[in-house]
Amino acid sequence: MATERTLSIIKPDATRRNLTGKVNACFEEAGLRIVAQKRLHLTQAQAEAFYGVHRERGFFKDLVAFMISGPVVVQVLEGEGAVAKNREIMGATDPAKAAPGTIRKLFAESIEANSVHGSDSAENAAAEIAFFFAGIEIVG
Ligand code: CMP
Repeated sequence: MATERTLSIIKPDATRRNLTGKVNACFEEAGLRIVAQKRLHLTQAQAEAFYGVHRERGFFKDLVAFMISGPVVVQVLEGEGAVAKNREIMGATDPAKAAPGTIRKLFAESIEANSVHGSDSAENAAAEIAFFFAGIEIVG
């Protein structure tokens, strides 16, 4: 399998509980490398643009309000099959359905406050990485 990059966001529920290091340990222990990382407080416009694909969904307004409720940590993860591997490490969107040992099972509070976001395809990963990072900020 090829080396890939994927976009990860540690969400406000996790930064509020000081879980950045524990979440990062999950990635590193599973063999993913954090090749870029920064802490941001998103504006409403940024959160709406990032989640634009969900604009018509009933949860969109609440999702945006949650994502701007505190700092996030955006990061680029690199490794063999990183997109799928990260989704495995995160677990299902709804923590009630997430497998044991996954980040969402371990740490998420609800389907909305679910601790992490990860790109769902290689194509979206490229777009989501470009949304937050310049090439010069990614050091493999
Ligand atoms: P994420 O992977 O960041 O992508 C969109 C987010 O919307 C998702 O994680 C959830 O945190 C959030 N969300 C809130 N309600 C729902 C829902 N009913 N179905 C899917 N995602 C939801």
